[in-house]
Amino acid sequence: MASPTTLAIPSSLSQGWLIHSLSSKNLFFRNGSSLLQLRQSQSPHLQWSAVKNSSLCSETELGQIFDVPLLSCSEATERLRTFRASYESKQQYLAMYSSIYGGITTDPAAMVIPIDDHMVHRGHGVFDTAAIMDGYLYELNQHLDRFIGSAAMAKIKLPFDRESIRRILIQTVSAAKCRKGSLRYWLSAGAGDFQLSPSGCHGSSLYAIVIQDESAAFSHSGIKVVTSSVPIKPPQFAVMKNVNYLPNALSKMEAEENGAYVAIWLDGDGYIAEGPNMNVAFVTKGKELVMPKFDKILSGCTARRVLVLAESLVEAGALSGIRLCDLTVEEGKEADEMMLIGSGVLVRAVVQWDDQVIGDGNVGPVAHSLLNLILEDMKSGPDTVRVAVPY
Ligand SMILES: Cc1ncc(COP(=O)(O)O)c(C=O)c1O
Repeated sequence: MASPTTLAIPSSLSQGWLIHSLSSKNLFFRNGSSLLQLRQSQSPHLQWSAVKNSSLCSETELGQIFDVPLLSCSEATERLRTFRASYESKQQYLAMYSSIYGGITTDPAAMVIPIDDHMVHRGHGVFDTAAIMDGYLYELNQHLDRFIGSAAMAKIKLPFDRESIRRILIQTVSAAKCRKGSLRYWLSAGAGDFQLSPSGCHGSSLYAIVIQDESAAFSHSGIKVVTSSVPIKPPQFAVMKNVNYLPNALSKMEAEENGAYVAIWLDGDGYIAEGPNMNVAFVTKGKELVMPKFDKILSGCTARRVLVLAESLVEAGALSGIRLCDLTVEEGKEADEMMLIGSGVLVRAVVQWDDQVIGDGNVGPVAHSLLNLILEDMKSGPDTVRVAVPY
């Protein structure tokens, strides 16, 4: 049982102050529109501080304010831990690196970033990913190259050189003891204030998180897509992987509202562009694998790898050739096969686009083979695409 505490109210405040409310750690007095808050400190003595606000006049407002507890750092951390534990998630966050605290934590309650980080309030940050498969990071170097390219386009200076960033990422996966999952990482203009310019920040910040996803399984089944009515980002922003994914999120939601998996973007000239987090490819009636050029969209690491792996299908006669080009919606909808390509889906066959059935409405042989090829590449590809994690 908590020991009783003796409370001495300062004499200057003893006139006209009425007890208004009481919570576990706070005792509130009211005098007209002024408030006095007595807050229990860690010591056995009570500390007091006055809170005055002449606009606080309605009982409702006061009641609402008093409902909000004032938390110590350890109480806030404990609540974060409870929040994390309170909902079922298929994703588990195994480890996080933050350059703010200069280390790795495996405690989900500590996996936070400062609210004055410009990535949070200005969207001034870039990110990338890499899949973890059987203890190897897939295409880490390719993703890291894009990450550093995105940072340069967003005018974010690297907090460490490329090799140090790479080492930090591998070490974070190792600390997570994760053998199958994904790694996500961010470079932010930095934390330090709420201005627009990052000139007052304490340098750029690097964050990374290792996620284990029990539900992650790549599917051979076909899906439906629609054309996005949410505008695509201008090329300057679409070619860098920056954190401004609001158009992407709205486009995905639009698809879901229409019973589709994702919505496909067209570029400013009406040519097929990409999905909200994947590239698109088609197999023409002439058995050519065609993909939009990467000049106005994100250069997908998976799509680029598929272009290499697809050469074996050309050699086997399953494809007549491979080409990057401008593609009209009509050409896309008349294709024998359509597929989405990206780290999240690998290769996913599209069997319907808006009202148009693609090909014969079934998953085509090229999409099927390409998914198998990339899965095999993740499990037993060359050193150029697989980086071993030392556990
Ligand atoms: C807009 C966009 N296009 C394409 C891709 C596919 O890129 P990757 O294959 O590197 O995952 C992504 C990936 O998240 C994306 O966000």
